[in-house]
Amino acid sequence: MMRYILIGILALTAFAVGLLTFEWYRGGDQAVAFGAPFELVDHNGQPITDKALQGRPTALFFGFTHCPDVCPTTLFEMEGWLEQLGEEGKDLQAFFVSVDPERDTPEVMKTYLSNFSDRVTGVTGEPEKVAAMAKAFRIYSKKVELEGGDYTMDHTASVMLLDRKGDFFGTISYEENPETAVEKLRRLIREG
Ligand code: NI
Repeated sequence: MMRYILIGILALTAFAVGLLTFEWYRGGDQAVAFGAPFELVDHNGQPITDKALQGRPTALFFGFTHCPDVCPTTLFEMEGWLEQLGEEGKDLQAFFVSVDPERDTPEVMKTYLSNFSDRVTGVTGEPEKVAAMAKAFRIYSKKVELEGGDYTMDHTASVMLLDRKGDFFGTISYEENPETAVEKLRRLIREG
């Protein structure tokens, strides 16, 4: 009799552990959800959706053209990574998404990006849609009023790396060592 009670207790315990693990996994899965469908415009004024992030490894950077330091530095470095990768990086695509779409029209983005690279596609669009897209990629951005009525934007400075399925692969930090950055991109191209 005692044996059956023990077996019963063990079976119930196993069931409870299984259920908890399942719930934890499901919760965890929701917690790592990354990205979302979007409909925006590229720097040529053409529609661009989340489909653009699939099929090729992607470097995704959020910023704005009035940025005094972080964005110009990162875009300059990004062009350096792409040059260093050369032929190896031909499959890699790069996007610069504006967190300041009110000022960053497609024309403004196109002119701005032409100063850095012909490999980086500018993305902008309706402010609410851009904000929703940035949020889905865990990007922080906030308008900061300046004296004289002007404003600037605080924003996440990391470059997001996405695999060919459009899933999160890693990040490159602001002013990351160039060799480390290129190595991360090589790994993304190989394994992403
Ligand atoms: Ni910036």
